[in-house]
Amino acid sequence: MSHALSDYAIAMPRHAHTDGHDGVFVVFEGIDGAGTTTQAELYAKYLRQKKRLVHVTREPSVGPIGSLLRLILSRRVALPSGSHAQTMALLFAADRLDHVESEILPLLRDGYVILSDRYDLSSILYQAVTAGVEPSAGSDVVAWIRTLNRHARRPDVTVVVDVPPEVAEIRRRARGGAIEIFEENDIQTRLARAYLRAEHVVGDRIVHIDGTLPIEGVHNAIVAALAPFVESAD
Ligand code: TYD
Repeated sequence: MSHALSDYAIAMPRHAHTDGHDGVFVVFEGIDGAGTTTQAELYAKYLRQKKRLVHVTREPSVGPIGSLLRLILSRRVALPSGSHAQTMALLFAADRLDHVESEILPLLRDGYVILSDRYDLSSILYQAVTAGVEPSAGSDVVAWIRTLNRHARRPDVTVVVDVPPEVAEIRRRARGGAIEIFEENDIQTRLARAYLRAEHVVGDRIVHIDGTLPIEGVHNAIVAALAPFVESAD
């Protein structure tokens, strides 16, 4: 992967918030099998060693709408196929606001660093790709998904862990378990391309990490890339 960290990391002082809290909201994103869950946990461990208050969370959330989404993702509940991508976009957006209100905002107010395994970049890319459109900034579908998520608090920074679809597939197989509805090769291939271009889709601060390195190498790259956002107030 050809990205140099310095191409993407935009240093922002962490007190650049306008809504009066002290926490930091970090999102981890990537295709299925990219390693975001592992990396969020490792980064949490790193911050806890530095005596920071840390909360790891994920979407779909553990709330009621998130639980419904997990049933759909694992095929235990079926949606009508005609409007599948749109219905999923609505459900993910509803789950997100529930997640923000019930979990993220209260902990940010208490000064936590929140590490969320997925957020609305997943909605923009997965629901656009599964609706059959290119998730470019000018697309109507992307504009609609962004409108649905207009009230979702912006992350302070999003870490995109980039891996080629073949690497992620090998990792998913090694992990085992049921195959979820979006874990198909052509969807994952389109998503991998879309994640690489992700900075064109959202106006947020995004750092790209080469996820093909060994776990420790990816972790070290994440620590370095997030330091200006998370550790600048230490
Ligand atoms: P994933 O994060 O891989 O969790 P698990 O480890 O439990 O499988 O699964 C969530 C799936 O949902 C993944 O395929 C991405 C998808 N997703 C969306 O399509 N839109 C969204 O907004 C979110 C948050 C996830």
